[in-house]
Amino acid sequence: VGGTGDGSKVAEWEAAVASFVGVPHATVMNSGRRGMALIMQHLGIGVDDEVIVPAYTLKDLIPLIQRFGAKVVPADIEPGTFSISPETVQARITPKTKAILALHAFGAPCAILRINEIAQKAGIAVIEDCAHSFGATIDGQQTGSFGDAAFFSFETTKPINTFGGGMVVSKDAALIESIQKETANDTLDFEPVLNRMKRTQLEQTLFRFGLTFPFLALLTSPTFKESMTKLYRKMQPAPPSNIQYSDLQAELGLRRFATWEDRQIKRRATIDLLQSLLAPEIQLQRVAEGCTSTWCWAIAVLPCDAAPVRQQLLWRGIDAGVEDEIVDDIGALLGYTDCPQSEEAFRRTIMLPLYEDQDDQTVRKVAGALNAIVAKATKA
Ligand SMILES: Cc1ncc(COP(=O)(O)O)c(C=O)c1O
Repeated sequence: VGGTGDGSKVAEWEAAVASFVGVPHATVMNSGRRGMALIMQHLGIGVDDEVIVPAYTLKDLIPLIQRFGAKVVPADIEPGTFSISPETVQARITPKTKAILALHAFGAPCAILRINEIAQKAGIAVIEDCAHSFGATIDGQQTGSFGDAAFFSFETTKPINTFGGGMVVSKDAALIESIQKETANDTLDFEPVLNRMKRTQLEQTLFRFGLTFPFLALLTSPTFKESMTKLYRKMQPAPPSNIQYSDLQAELGLRRFATWEDRQIKRRATIDLLQSLLAPEIQLQRVAEGCTSTWCWAIAVLPCDAAPVRQQLLWRGIDAGVEDEIVDDIGALLGYTDCPQSEEAFRRTIMLPLYEDQDDQTVRKVAGALNAIVAKATKA
């Protein structure tokens, strides 16, 4: 990988994303999480403020908001789309609400237009969590261009993988400038990126051997739960916050971006095939009308608990994720008992294997096994 290391590739990558998303400004940092925190810092989120987040999202985001002294308030999701529900957002607004974090879950756009309306009336900022949604659209308009600011993630499982990293985009030049000031003194360290590359290679090698799957099935026992979750989320702890997003990563981003459309077409074909093969009681994530999803992950809702189904899939050599290996029931974690859709999504949702260049035979095997296991589970 080339790149002169003088920041020129980073500037090119930022310009490419800004232009693609349709916003004037973009700036990189070493993770999506840091991007979110820097947006909130610029917005002046502080003690006694409230931030509304989806009740079904990544729990790692909570402490980043609480660190400002703010209260994290979960709003329930809509069944099927996993979109933060505008009605529950409306019900959570108080005079203390400062921002709404709107997630385009698993690559499918949320009801961001309705959320913007609600936020505008209340004078609240909207931050789009585009960690999964690079390239997703609403009536042709890119996610990331609707809110006051948005952040993308370039972690290994995301639509654009640069082995870690994030980018904030915004119409607000002052917001981008203040973030650039915060990241200006970051130091270059290739170690975290190289470690991610090595890890990915190791995982790919392991998954190629069928024998690994019974081993993984054993790992789902409570003793090994934590390592299993890490494996499925394919995440490492957030890198120390002062590491620079490098020209090397920007070069990777530009290359992945160049092939993005072709890869996306193949991904949609895989999803269409999967959809046509799954039994009607197994619901792939619903994409709202007028929207396109990136299908970052293939997420389906089962008519029964997902954990025992996953266990049986693993024994058949099929890799799938459930519960907190996907995302978390933030409502429950924060002690709220009024987010029933998130609770249900947490229990009944499964992440099916979706790899680049997945062949049709694999898709048929996954759908066939899942249909059979679910049919048996629901009859019992
Ligand atoms: C919903 C959601 N938001 C934010 C992030 C943060 O991205 P990063 O890993 O780049 O910090 C992730 C990462 O998986 C995510 O799933």
